[in-house]
Amino acid sequence: MKNTPINQELVTKNLSRLRIEDVGQASIREIVALVNLIEAESPEKFIRMEMGVPGLPPAQVGVEAEIEALKSGVASIYPMIDGIKEVKQEASRFVKLFMDVDVAPAGCVPTVGSMQGTYSALLVASNLDVKKDTVLFIDPGFPVQKQQMMVMGCKYESFDIFNFRGEKLREKLESILSKGHINSVIYSNPNNPSWICFTEEELQIIGELANKYDIVVMEDLAYFAMDFRKDLFSPGRPPYQPTVARYTNNYVLFISSSKIFSYAGQRIGIMVISDALYNRDYENLKTRFQSNSFGNTITLRVLYAISSGTSHSAQYALAAMFKAANDGRFNFVEEVKEYGEKAKIMKRLFLENGFTIVYEKDGDEPIADGFYFTIGYPGMTGGELLNKLLFYGISAITLKNTGSELEGLRACVSHVKRSQFDDLERRLKQFHADFPA
Ligand SMILES: Cc1ncc(COP(=O)(O)O)c(C=O)c1O
Repeated sequence: MKNTPINQELVTKNLSRLRIEDVGQASIREIVALVNLIEAESPEKFIRMEMGVPGLPPAQVGVEAEIEALKSGVASIYPMIDGIKEVKQEASRFVKLFMDVDVAPAGCVPTVGSMQGTYSALLVASNLDVKKDTVLFIDPGFPVQKQQMMVMGCKYESFDIFNFRGEKLREKLESILSKGHINSVIYSNPNNPSWICFTEEELQIIGELANKYDIVVMEDLAYFAMDFRKDLFSPGRPPYQPTVARYTNNYVLFISSSKIFSYAGQRIGIMVISDALYNRDYENLKTRFQSNSFGNTITLRVLYAISSGTSHSAQYALAAMFKAANDGRFNFVEEVKEYGEKAKIMKRLFLENGFTIVYEKDGDEPIADGFYFTIGYPGMTGGELLNKLLFYGISAITLKNTGSELEGLRACVSHVKRSQFDDLERRLKQFHADFPA
């Protein structure tokens, strides 16, 4: 057995303690639990790249507004289910100023994190038309949204975008959508886990086909403006955050505060429903929810039933963060650029030691440096690679976990400290020497 930074028996012992038979199939939370157990007994700490949690302090403007709101007594009052006026108005301004998209405040609805937003929108979309009973995931994707589908008992299909970039996406989507059973398409952009960003051409294809087949597009913007190749903090001026909303009116956008404002703990995001979709009536919503329009069903049926709205004080925080950004006082993009800078260095360390970047291009352009990147190692499956890297004190999740058809791992940069880069380099060098690629 090779002498590795982490005792190999410790890894094996804790794998069986958690009853993880195949680490390649383990969920994010299982890897977190495994590494916690190993670290508790090991003198060496891990380079932890498994979980996508913010690694920065929360936006101060949000914290202050929330404290003020609490002091003023909002904690005792139920908030309006579709959101307080301030957050709806500032969200509408935000999508205009940073996306150049017009949406009335009515369609801007706060949710308990984007998680609750996707849960409710996926549920409603799955019940718009009895013939359209399936959601299409453009993978790789965020695994918990598939778990939401499982919990709701709703059907989904997926495909890996890797071989269908550019114009090839049209043919692939047509081949699925033309069957007539899809109600909506969902993807994240920038993408978790691969950090690819759709090109304008690809967004146009998705929008045009959504119009042609009358389906809803759910665009998950959890990493809004974090494609650092362009400076997207220019309120009211281009460049804007790219979006499918330029090509279709059948959209729901999800803007989470978790990463862009480092506000994950307060569980708040905004769901932005186009005016056309918000006000559109669907026959089947009457039958299924005794409701009428898409917007009323989401707010007065689903959100009411699940949580009766979103934390009152957190809504004031979100309103204040949007307002400060809208007024040009709070450059939230600058605050999170550190992720891109760390990714650049970490990618170089992996590449110098025999690794490859699995998803590496958007069109002809190398992908951006950001919150995540993907790594592969010649001759190893993602599961084998993860298994071995654990002995070297490096943790991540396999791409198989995210609906990808490719072998490799997702690396998240947020919790790796710059002070760990030397350790990372030393461990990768040793790995490369032990397994020459
Ligand atoms: C693509 C994607 N969507 C949604 C979320 C969850 O967002 P929230 O914390 O607002 O529920 C995440 C968090 O990691 C994510 O990566």
